[in-house]
Amino acid sequence: MIALLALILSLPAAAAPSADVEARVQELLSKMTLEEKLGQLQQLDGRADGKASPELFDLARTGRLGAVLGVLGSSEINALQRAALENSRLKIPILFGFDVIHGYRTIFPIPLALASSWDPGEVESAARVSAREAEATGLRWMFSPMVDIARDPRWGRVAEGAGEDPYLGSAMARAWVRGYQGDDPSQPGRVAACAKHWVGYGAAEGGRDYGTTEISERTLREIYFPPFKAAVDAGALTLMSAFNDLDGVPSTANRFTLTDVLRGEWKFSGFVVSDYNAVHELINHGVAQDGAQAAARALTAGVDMEMVSRDYAQNLPELVRAGAVPLSAVDEAVRRILRVKFELGLFERPYADPAREDAELLSAASRAAARRAAERSLVLLQNDGGVLPLSKSLKTVAVIGPLAVDRAALLGSWSGEGRPADAASVADAVRAALPGARVIASTGGAIGSLSDADIQSASEAARAADAAIVVLGESADMSGEASARSSLDLPGRQLELARAAAAAGKPVVAVALNGRPLTLAPLLSTVPAVLEAWQPGTEGAAAVAAALFGDANPGGHLTMTFPRSTGQIPIYYDHKNGGRPASESDHFTSKYIDGPWTPQFPFGWGLSYTTFTLSGLSVTPAVAAPGATAIVRVEVSNDGARAGDAVVQLYLRRRFAEVTRPVAELKGFSRVGLKSGESRVVEFALGPAELGFLGADMKFSEPPGDYEITVGTSSVGGLTARLTVGGRR
Ligand code: GLC
Repeated sequence: MIALLALILSLPAAAAPSADVEARVQELLSKMTLEEKLGQLQQLDGRADGKASPELFDLARTGRLGAVLGVLGSSEINALQRAALENSRLKIPILFGFDVIHGYRTIFPIPLALASSWDPGEVESAARVSAREAEATGLRWMFSPMVDIARDPRWGRVAEGAGEDPYLGSAMARAWVRGYQGDDPSQPGRVAACAKHWVGYGAAEGGRDYGTTEISERTLREIYFPPFKAAVDAGALTLMSAFNDLDGVPSTANRFTLTDVLRGEWKFSGFVVSDYNAVHELINHGVAQDGAQAAARALTAGVDMEMVSRDYAQNLPELVRAGAVPLSAVDEAVRRILRVKFELGLFERPYADPAREDAELLSAASRAAARRAAERSLVLLQNDGGVLPLSKSLKTVAVIGPLAVDRAALLGSWSGEGRPADAASVADAVRAALPGARVIASTGGAIGSLSDADIQSASEAARAADAAIVVLGESADMSGEASARSSLDLPGRQLELARAAAAAGKPVVAVALNGRPLTLAPLLSTVPAVLEAWQPGTEGAAAVAAALFGDANPGGHLTMTFPRSTGQIPIYYDHKNGGRPASESDHFTSKYIDGPWTPQFPFGWGLSYTTFTLSGLSVTPAVAAPGATAIVRVEVSNDGARAGDAVVQLYLRRRFAEVTRPVAELKGFSRVGLKSGESRVVEFALGPAELGFLGADMKFSEPPGDYEITVGTSSVGGLTARLTVGGRR
């Protein structure tokens, strides 16, 4: 019990606000009218062109506009801010937010790609650069990081997250918050983070966005909560409530998650904003008959700010006057919002500096950071016969497929103020990488309209070349919000392009540009090498070309399982064993009769242009007292001919406990750069936080027991060892 108590006391609680901020909040709140208070609870949208409407200016001048989204550029932001500060009675600055999900103007790889780097430092860098660019324009609040755990690649929003695992997802959540907020979010170049979408949004039935979710409390607490807890413990100033129905109570009206957990257990002191119109959509959910009931339910559940719909502003005056909603609930929401505005230094520094805006956007430093992130996010899925990297002495290269010239596909969904014109296409990048070669581009029309002539052209291009590069996958609008797909196959006739190129009998490699795991089996049996480039951002094409021709060695690994078929979904690595685990030899087991139950590529998968060997796994002590920490060590060696990065992964399995446990749980990882012939010892610490789990009573515990430890370079295979906690061998 003592160990457990020590553990709980050691867990970082959300940072407590300073006394000075609390005093300033209280002093300001005491002066506010009800209308001014409700103004702080309202966030409204800019126009499609990034300008503010006349109505927004009116509301700003009368102190009835707490925050906006989608008003862009230092000039427009400063104009609206000036309207508030020079006319309203209390001169409370407006908070300007925007969907900077993987970059503002310089676009980084999509978050699912960044997570594939298995390098929180890379994610922190992307967040820091994005914040620097966005804050220079006057934006002080990013609707990021999206930390939803996703086990269903049909869901279009897997592109925005870190994949299927809570341990890796938590590490990336911390990195995003650190990169955005730094140690002091009031400093220039720093912004407020917004961990979203609270909670369980990724578990939508059928993978269909905004879908219904049914999640047990155990699964919520062990799988979906952890990345949010990591963000809150890292000091995230805001969260965003989700659209989904969570076990019958929509996340935007769910007092258990919004107040009991977030405030009661986690002591979160920032504010919660609803998702776009989500308060009013409680009517569609059927838990509110009108805007007044929607406002009452959302506010009293714990949603502090209403995004875009206006049920708070339109109904709370009457609800408060009638005593249906206590004024204290309004005051607490206002307090949380003012607290964040003070912590952002918004009262001291409300305006953007146009000079900084010009200097920061698309700077050489931004582009260099985006290039590095793109290179480190690439995942080499297959490389039969070592056909990659291609030789730089090729005289003629065919570049095939619509995506080879689709710059928007490189930026992916939620590409902020990124412009496709800022990016080179893959075809451009291949030309730049091989200045002396002839590059034949056979790109066809759009993915959805590839013709027999396009297929024929691809065949001719490959025949005329020494090697062919087929660029295929999804266009930018095939993933992201409201973009679920019922099939994960390559859309359109792209596979036929690959087959036509392969039939030419020359070396053919494929580059995949996509926002989610795809079912690639037909492609994998058509071409020997597939490089997963995701949607790699403004500098992505250059990164792809560097990898194709060997100037970069792919070191990324998957953070989401790639299924063989859509019919296998949900399929994820940390599944339970069940009473009859799948077995080829025994008919009456949990398998399919029409195909394998195993994935195409498992969580953690990734190849390299070199090879790595793990050896000398040790666990010290092998028998540990409850509450103790065991140190796991393994040596990783690069026994190939060129430098490369290994991603060493540690998985745990507890075969027996009072509740069932996953067959594997990631509890440590390290990306290690090694020269040819170099070796290094990697160390992991396993303490109660890693070894413990929720018992049948839903309380965290670390009872005595045996653990299997596996260390490898994917979630399948590796070296194994035993750890016994609190008992005898
Ligand atoms: C959208 C998204 C959310 C985004 C918000 C503002 O509907 O669900 O992620 O931040 O609205 O654009």
